[in-house]
Amino acid sequence: MKVALVFGTRPEAIKMAPIVKELERRRLNHVVIVTAQHREMLDQKLDVFDIHPQYDLDIMQHDQDLFYVTSAVLNEIKPVLLKEKPDVLLVQGDTTTTFATSLAAYYFKIPVGHVEAGLRTWDKMNPYPEELNRQLTTRLTEFHFAPTEWAKNNLIAEGIKKENIFVTGNTVIDALLMIVDPKYRFEDSTLDAIDFKNRRVIVLTSHRRENFGEPMREIFSACRDLVERNPDVELIYPVHPNPNVRKTANDMLSGIQRVHLIEPMEYRPFVQLMNKCYLILTDSGGVQEEAPSLGKPALVLRKTTERPEAIEAGTAKLVGSDRKRIVETAQRLLSDKMATRVNPYGDGKAAQRIVDTIQQLG
Ligand code: UD1
Ligand code: UDP
Repeated sequence: MKVALVFGTRPEAIKMAPIVKELERRRLNHVVIVTAQHREMLDQKLDVFDIHPQYDLDIMQHDQDLFYVTSAVLNEIKPVLLKEKPDVLLVQGDTTTTFATSLAAYYFKIPVGHVEAGLRTWDKMNPYPEELNRQLTTRLTEFHFAPTEWAKNNLIAEGIKKENIFVTGNTVIDALLMIVDPKYRFEDSTLDAIDFKNRRVIVLTSHRRENFGEPMREIFSACRDLVERNPDVELIYPVHPNPNVRKTANDMLSGIQRVHLIEPMEYRPFVQLMNKCYLILTDSGGVQEEAPSLGKPALVLRKTTERPEAIEAGTAKLVGSDRKRIVETAQRLLSDKMATRVNPYGDGKAAQRIVDTIQQLG
């Protein structure tokens, strides 16, 4: 039985890495194919997890659009699948790599295993285009690896047969536990110089398409307000390389005291930064899952989330992109810290469960 794993972006690499490692550990026949929808941010993650893909489609272009990514993945993956003829193909999450690869697999009648299946907002514009990418991938999938019971129930409600759904936990928690290291010291001099004991560090990540433009300006204005109002706050923002994000971030946040705009971080220091910080502001999917495991409060800079478990557990709050609301909520947390360590998304054994299931199916 041959398993193909296809991924292309930073979060997919982090979340597929534990499965690649588990397949390696069990010496099972597998082939790693990267689309490189992301280039530098993907390579950072391949390095940290020591993954050497057999195929690299190298599709990323500067300021690419969705038409380009979808068609490039479909065209470039075709000869690879024709040559490799895997028995099952694993994709992860909700990116355009995920959707286009699943479609290609379907055209070749190769069964798809979808890792992190069943998350939903039911709002096709939020997150855009990820909600539809994920729903369409469900339609193209045979084996649904749902991270939580909630995700499983969403799939059942859409008519997916129970026997094809496997609740595994989210592999991001496996990755996090592989990497977290409280003794790690930052190599970056800006980060190493920060006094995490006497300063309150806020970590920001923001890159979602639906936040481009005015919502992102509101978010950055809120960040400025928070830093101005609280002299002991340092804000660290590893800026996503998407040019739409970079421009707004540079226009609004550069040159401000105690605001550090830095390059996207490697996974090991980023996990350490989250582990040491006071508060996280994010529109990221993965960061929403990691924060509660590290016991960190998170404000989710989105209208809606397909990851409601942390909101329900009370460790994350959905605040959207409204400047006033972000400032007020963050300000409350700065005076009255909320955070308990909870693990709604997984226990670190998701990859084992996924590979167990694949072995049983084979
Ligand atoms: C993509 C995913 C999104 C995911 C995000 C993770 C889609 C539609 N979107 O969004 O779901 O949350 O990745 O970060 O699949 N770039 C670089 N270097 C890199 C990566 C990106 O320069 O390593 C720049 C390029 O100019 C590229 C642009 O960012 O064209 C956008 O990349 P793209 O993958 O299309 O979209 P993201 O916004 O990164
Ligand atoms: N991450 C990282 N370096 C950074 C910012 C984020 O390694 O500078 C990690 C983060 O810990 C999480 C993942 O990248 O595991 C999230 O990726 P992203 O926010 O790009 O995508 P999303 O999860 O929103 O699809």
